[in-house]
Amino acid sequence: MSSEEGAPLVLVSNRGPVTFQEGGEVKRGGGGLVTALTGLASHRDAIWIASAMTEQDIAVTEEHGGRPFVAELPDGGSYKVRLVASDPGAYDRFYNVFANPMLWFIQHYLWDLSNAPDIRREEVEAFEFGYNVVNEDLARAVLEEIEGQSEPVVMVHDYHLYTLPGLIRRERPDVFLHHFVHIPWTQPDAWRVLPTKIRTEIYEGLLANDIVGFHTRSYRRNFLQCCRDLMDLEVDFERGVVHCPDGHEVWVRAYPLPIDAEQTRAVAKRPRTAEFEGELLRRRREHLILRVDRADLSKNVLRGFTAFDVFLEQHPEFRERVTFVAQLMPSRTDVPEYAEYLERIEAVVAVVNHRHGTPDWMPIHLKLRDDLEEAVAAYKNYDLLLVNAMFDGMNLVAKEGPLVNERAGVSILSENTGAHEELGEFALSVNPFDIQELADSIHAALTMPREERERRLDGLKRIVTQRNPGDWIDDQLADIRKKERANDG
Ligand code: F6P
Repeated sequence: MSSEEGAPLVLVSNRGPVTFQEGGEVKRGGGGLVTALTGLASHRDAIWIASAMTEQDIAVTEEHGGRPFVAELPDGGSYKVRLVASDPGAYDRFYNVFANPMLWFIQHYLWDLSNAPDIRREEVEAFEFGYNVVNEDLARAVLEEIEGQSEPVVMVHDYHLYTLPGLIRRERPDVFLHHFVHIPWTQPDAWRVLPTKIRTEIYEGLLANDIVGFHTRSYRRNFLQCCRDLMDLEVDFERGVVHCPDGHEVWVRAYPLPIDAEQTRAVAKRPRTAEFEGELLRRRREHLILRVDRADLSKNVLRGFTAFDVFLEQHPEFRERVTFVAQLMPSRTDVPEYAEYLERIEAVVAVVNHRHGTPDWMPIHLKLRDDLEEAVAAYKNYDLLLVNAMFDGMNLVAKEGPLVNERAGVSILSENTGAHEELGEFALSVNPFDIQELADSIHAALTMPREERERRLDGLKRIVTQRNPGDWIDDQLADIRKKERANDG
């Protein structure tokens, strides 16, 4: 059963489309990966296999005896899911010791050589008895779901599941494996932090795929370079092909993820969004600077606040005329680096507010929460959207903000985000490490003539509405069909 014969698509990722709350309430999973796949999973015949990430997820998984079930969301979405509950200790090692601190840090250049992690038994065991265990658990569920199908298609997602494709391929040589990596792929030397054995297992797992996809051409190039330099394989940069010694070819492709403009516009019209807007407008000053992010080290939140501090210092005429709203969603708080980062964020905000604030003006409003309507209300009303990530796979905020903005808002965009490949022309590009450049860009944005701001915003709106997540999936399915034919021929 190939991709052409209408077999249910099998999607597998760590975070799934739904998560369960205390009292059984169902909530949509967060993040770019879920946003990317939900359209596909609710409109096509697909089964989505994912980890049970919370205690409530585990309870629901047990209620269903580990079998697939249909999860209905309050906003109408419905998904066929199969949640997999791994051993809690193994899951903790997988998520909190290996996937997030280790792989996420490597793939966002969050270490330099002076602060690279010590690799001790704990880290090696986190790979062997955490990362690999969860990959095996999910692989087993995939194998059960594709049993009896011939030539099934499995779409694997992200950095949590690099060893899973190898496990599936071993049992089912006929399977078509397509793996999309939602985060950057760094240059070869960044990967040398990992012990050779672990690194090799990761690359061998990935090279069991038929296609490996990334958001940008530069991640694709980096991956090909890694395969050549770290794995000593023959690669074709032009065609994007890795030649494995057994004759297997892996196609390496770039598929930049678009936003779901229709859905974001619908959120912009919700009554709850209007309530947040009312509140925002009552309190707004002449200029509103906005950032919306997960509280993640890669997002470069601290340098953003420091640049704002420098801007207020160098342009005191803006004091009391500008407010910086930062909506940050606490994330991965069981990882010590993340918990500490949140504390540092709060400390820097307190310093800047203390230094510049007045009895009736607080320069930075820090909102530590994940609220889509509140974010979209702010998207509609910013004068400046700040996206200054050190490195970021894509960054959907950079696309969603301009889509619904109604104030000719300017975007400051880090040149190290995936979104920059598409949007750089109409944003103010910044080197995210250059605080002075960032402060100057804040000034440039807030003093830019309206006509120029409109020209830039129109350009951004045009680009972000050109394609939708359906097109993104269709491009990948078209390549799957091409590669299936190439494999057969
Ligand atoms: O691809 C990165 C990603 O998996 C996205 O889904 C999202 O940006 C984020 O990471 C979510 O992380 P987590 O699942 O750890 O909350």
